[in-house]
Amino acid sequence: MSVPSPSALSRHVAELYPAGAGVPPVLRLMQIYRPYLCPFDLLLPLVQPGGTMLDVGCGGGLWLGLCAKFGLIRSGLGFDSSPMAIAAARAMQANIRPAGDAPAPVLEFQHRAVAEGWPQGTFDTVTIIDVMHHVPVSQQRDVITQAASHLKPGGILIYKDIDEGHRIKATMNRLHDLIMARQWIHYARAEDVITWGEAAGLEKLAFMDMHRLWYPHELIVFGKKR
Ligand SMILES: C[S@@+](CC[C@H](N)C(=O)[O-])C[C@H]1O[C@@H](n2cnc3c(N)ncnc32)[C@H](O)[C@@H]1O
Repeated sequence: MSVPSPSALSRHVAELYPAGAGVPPVLRLMQIYRPYLCPFDLLLPLVQPGGTMLDVGCGGGLWLGLCAKFGLIRSGLGFDSSPMAIAAARAMQANIRPAGDAPAPVLEFQHRAVAEGWPQGTFDTVTIIDVMHHVPVSQQRDVITQAASHLKPGGILIYKDIDEGHRIKATMNRLHDLIMARQWIHYARAEDVITWGEAAGLEKLAFMDMHRLWYPHELIVFGKKR
């Protein structure tokens, strides 16, 4: 696929969350501006095309909504610990209109935390986008182990989080989360995430760091052997 710009993605997101369609205005605005903060444009080409996706900590369903709108997946399952986020994701679903005659992918959103048992099944792509720093340290390794066990052979795990190595910018994100999520977050070190993934039988395929506004990002892509 050709890579859309953050502003193009933001316009697509605005179509997924129209005003007055059941998503609170502040949450709607946060979704619309998120493509400027988080490099979804770089993540989209990594998705296994035509496959199934599990999105861990899916928030308001923005990522699955974009993947569905671009016809990248045939089905998707997202789960999140926030009931408000899951309600927004379910409301968003009605606004997915893939290009051309393509049928809308089947999406499902479940309210559950990572420590409350994961959905059944295995998937072509598993994604964990800006979730790990919200997860208690004692549960972080298990998130990667569970993600690995929910991948089909040949599947891809896309892990994206804030890069703690950039102290000032990571601190700004910490303040962002203190205000927005009212939570003191715990960054996982990329080296640990890679070690946990490899211990769970995954192979590291790529590592990248990048910046968007004042947000430092790290991206790790794992593959599961066939
Ligand atoms: C920064 S948002 C990212 C949402 C989405 N992945 C995205 O990129 O738009 C972090 C999400 O993680 C969810 N979350 C935090 N702790 C969680 C947990 N223990 N289990 C599941 N979801 C969790 C929050 O409710 C929130 O929706």
